[in-house]
Amino acid sequence: MELMRQLSVPVLIVPGNHDVGHLPGSDQPVDTARLERWRRLAGPDYWVSDHGNWRLIGLNSLLFGHGDTEEVAQFSWLEEVLAAREGRRVAIFTHKPLFVDDAHEGDTGYWSIRPAPRQRLYDLFAAHDVALFASGHLHWAWKGTFENTALVWGPSSAFIIDKLEREMPGERVVGAVIHTLSEDVSSEIVTLPELTPYFIDEVIHEVYPRAVSKRVPEAAQ
Ligand SMILES: [Fe+2]
Repeated sequence: MELMRQLSVPVLIVPGNHDVGHLPGSDQPVDTARLERWRRLAGPDYWVSDHGNWRLIGLNSLLFGHGDTEEVAQFSWLEEVLAAREGRRVAIFTHKPLFVDDAHEGDTGYWSIRPAPRQRLYDLFAAHDVALFASGHLHWAWKGTFENTALVWGPSSAFIIDKLEREMPGERVVGAVIHTLSEDVSSEIVTLPELTPYFIDEVIHEVYPRAVSKRVPEAAQ
């Protein structure tokens, strides 16, 4: 966070599974201590920020699928900030994508938001002119749409995946996405030559020290 605060531009961040934990039953589930730590060190794990005709909303996607008071509170808050957008267009930023291969696929476990909260998000998108849903998590960069909402998977700035996981849609690059918000939104996936595309496969024992024997694919089942 000290490094983040040294950036010379305004920064809004959302937590990932390596920050606040993951699904119930995983080695490091979201819990009170992890949420408290994020909120103390980084600030709110979900937020709203208005810029002209746009309302930017950051969500903590790691709360989805828990069925607890934290998930209920975030959904209630989301409904409130969407209802109070006063005609602004909406861009949502969060860690996990809505789906991997198909908008109505079943539970993908590790990789995307579970079907029940996903459907609830779809219903809110349709009611509130959500123009963009931008996510990360997959280490693949991809652009698509669902109904009237643009979907963008931002690439990792750290690792690509070699053979640890199956091929997924999109590009295997390290970089960033530039979203331009004007009347509509346009998004450009940018590969950064300053970044080395290391394979996560080679350091997976450091990323998941306690799950190394199970590896990610089994953890996702
Ligand atoms: Fe992630």
